[in-house]
Amino acid sequence: MSFVEDRAREIAQRHNFSEIRIPLLERIDLFVRSTGETSDIVEKQMYAFVDRDEAETTVALRPEGTPSVVRAYIEAGLDRSAPEQRFFYSGPVFRRERPQKGRYRQFYQFGVEVFGRADAACDADLLIMIDDLCRDLRLPVRFEINSIGCKDCRPAFRAALIAWGRSHWDELCDDCHNRIERNPLRLLDCKIDVKLAESAPSSLDYLCEACRAHFGVVQELISAAGVKFLVNPHLVRGLDYYSRTAFEVTADGLGAQSTVVGGGRYDGLVEAMGGSSVPGIGFGIGVDRMALALQAAGLAPSDAPDAAVIAMGPAAMRQAIVVARDLRASKLKVELLSPERKLKALLGRASKIGARFAVIIGDDELARSVVQLRDLKHSSQNEVAVADAPRAIAAALAG
Ligand code: HAM
Repeated sequence: MSFVEDRAREIAQRHNFSEIRIPLLERIDLFVRSTGETSDIVEKQMYAFVDRDEAETTVALRPEGTPSVVRAYIEAGLDRSAPEQRFFYSGPVFRRERPQKGRYRQFYQFGVEVFGRADAACDADLLIMIDDLCRDLRLPVRFEINSIGCKDCRPAFRAALIAWGRSHWDELCDDCHNRIERNPLRLLDCKIDVKLAESAPSSLDYLCEACRAHFGVVQELISAAGVKFLVNPHLVRGLDYYSRTAFEVTADGLGAQSTVVGGGRYDGLVEAMGGSSVPGIGFGIGVDRMALALQAAGLAPSDAPDAAVIAMGPAAMRQAIVVARDLRASKLKVELLSPERKLKALLGRASKIGARFAVIIGDDELARSVVQLRDLKHSSQNEVAVADAPRAIAAALAG
């Protein structure tokens, strides 16, 4: 997992994002006001409890990062003093969901949020950033994008969905009956009758001119940058704050939980949370899922060390400990083994941890300032000078 996070961090820095650290625990109303009262997260999935403070504040373990970043941004007065900001964050989030493969109650998100950019180039650049990460990890993914309109055009789409829902009342599931008035966009998310949901109205038919133009430019720009994508006019997000561009990225090998990244624009959120009218957009990477998808595709990097250093006795250990240090200084991953076992057992340990090389030092090697370099993959062995060991191992690994 840290491999995915390390790469995401590197790419975020290349895209000029700065890290923000956000609390694990927040007042519950932060999520009610932003993630949305009618979202599954707020309705069913938060770990919330009453604090023992005098006011008996209800707090919740964060179910996502966006609300805390928006809160911090407004509290620091950035919406007024320096509205254009780019943040990334990384860490655990908590949702009370039914655990299954790729769906956990504590999972890890790497998220980014951009404030103060309303232009479509910003949306495109974030999608390109995700593409950069997936290419870097060599993970094949599918991009699905949509526009769910803005505060001006969404009411008409909402009304069309309600009318459609009412006219199909008998065919809809119980969840969808609840959604019709409370959160009609989620009718499109029905997992029970997927076929029926396909016949529902599409958001693209209701976009105002400005939203249509914005979405057109997003597509133009990501096409120009070589990002392959599909427009899915039924894509809606489970969180309530989105406007205009919404997107999800899926990967194979995860079964039902195939979405590895989700995000979109949230132009009204900063204002709704008490700040100025500043546009925003971001995404969250499901780090666990991305790591699982890489594993399933055989693309997860090996955890095995490059070398195991073996000393045959206490005198040789004085040399071995220095050799291990020198190898690590050459950026090699090295485990120094215990000297209190026989060579056979130590070689067994070296194989068990998957070390490519065993670096063996006995009294004879110590006297002559050499090491025995045993290639455990090719079952060969040769002698090299102590000073040459890092170079010899690095060259063999590169070859
Ligand atoms: P989200 O779609 O709820 O969006 O979550 C983002 C990603 O977290 C998902 O695409 C998925 O990979 C992963 N994920 C969600 N639930 C679970 C789970 N139970 N177990 C494992 N992985 C999971 C957000 O949270 C938004 N805050 C993203 C965002 C940022 N939008 C704008 N800015």
